[in-house]
Amino acid sequence: MSLHYLVTGGAGYIGSHLVLALVGAQHQATVLDDFSTGHRWATEGHEVIEVDIRDLAALRSALLHRHFDGVFHFAAKSLVGESGQKPLLYYQNNVTGTANLLEVALENDWRHCVFSSTAAVYGSPQSAVIAEEHPLNPVNVYGETKLAMEQLLSAVHKQGAMHAVCLRYFNAAGAAPDAHRGEWHEPETHLIPNVLRKAAGEARPLTIFGDDYDTPDGTCIRDYIHVLDLAQAHLKAMAMLHREGGFHTLNLGSEAGYSVREILRACETTVGQPITHDIGPRRQGDPPRLVADAGRAGQILGWRATRGLREIVDSAWLWEQERQRLQAR
Ligand code: UFG
Repeated sequence: MSLHYLVTGGAGYIGSHLVLALVGAQHQATVLDDFSTGHRWATEGHEVIEVDIRDLAALRSALLHRHFDGVFHFAAKSLVGESGQKPLLYYQNNVTGTANLLEVALENDWRHCVFSSTAAVYGSPQSAVIAEEHPLNPVNVYGETKLAMEQLLSAVHKQGAMHAVCLRYFNAAGAAPDAHRGEWHEPETHLIPNVLRKAAGEARPLTIFGDDYDTPDGTCIRDYIHVLDLAQAHLKAMAMLHREGGFHTLNLGSEAGYSVREILRACETTVGQPITHDIGPRRQGDPPRLVADAGRAGQILGWRATRGLREIVDSAWLWEQERQRLQAR
């Protein structure tokens, strides 16, 4: 059955891949975005509503009498470093914006929401592998706001008004270059695009933030999850909500950990040449190791990551070459 979904933040990295997946599954997608960080080219061919979710009156009027079978909520500020410098912007955009969206959703009787959450809600890990029961102690404003957004959804669920799934991503990576989609942030802070932008010849430093961690090679370990695997999990989560309802929090990760040096080597293999870098001090707030236990997503959604590191890096490199062409225009 073809359904019609609202995708907030659908012009962004993960949201635009979800839009592709929805269309691929014969659904309809309407993007809602303020284009503060999203890209217009990523929404071509889709209905777009341009509005800032902090503005309740504008949101209400843009969505008045619209029917959607559910909402995928990605619209959020998402830079850890920036969140400490601009906490009010993060609380307004992420928390107030979500309260506004939920208000309008309830007014219009949309009762299903899949929310883009993050492993940042856990803070510093107390175990080698993180399951959903891990204590929630975010160590930065970004993680605090994402946790508050989860709590808003939980409260509205308890009120009996909304079914919701919060998907806690580990490190989203990779791209759908054949569909002209990929990661493009300015500034870029994420490891894989930083490495590949350096490899593509950009005049920018590439620094490994700390090689003195208590890990086998001294650099931080992360769980990289392909953005196409994330998109599939969103489709399954929405389908499950329509079948069963409820409120769920689920980790999305590959359950495999790779160090920064291992990522660098994987990128060098894909690119076919060494990539110049230096070693710098630790970046504040980086835990040594973040790896998901994604068992609950397996049980509840029948989902698991199907694409490994090679596919992540190869697709990110193809996308990086296309992104360079777009940037040069
Ligand atoms: N790193 C470098 N050099 C860089 C960029 C990153 O050494 O130029 C290192 C970081 O120190 C870290 C690892 O590479 O050890 C991964 O860093 P990313 O910035 O790519 O990703 P994070 O693990 O910091 O952040 C990700 C998401 C956040 C989320 C967080 C949850 O991008 O949105 O996981 O822990 F909050």
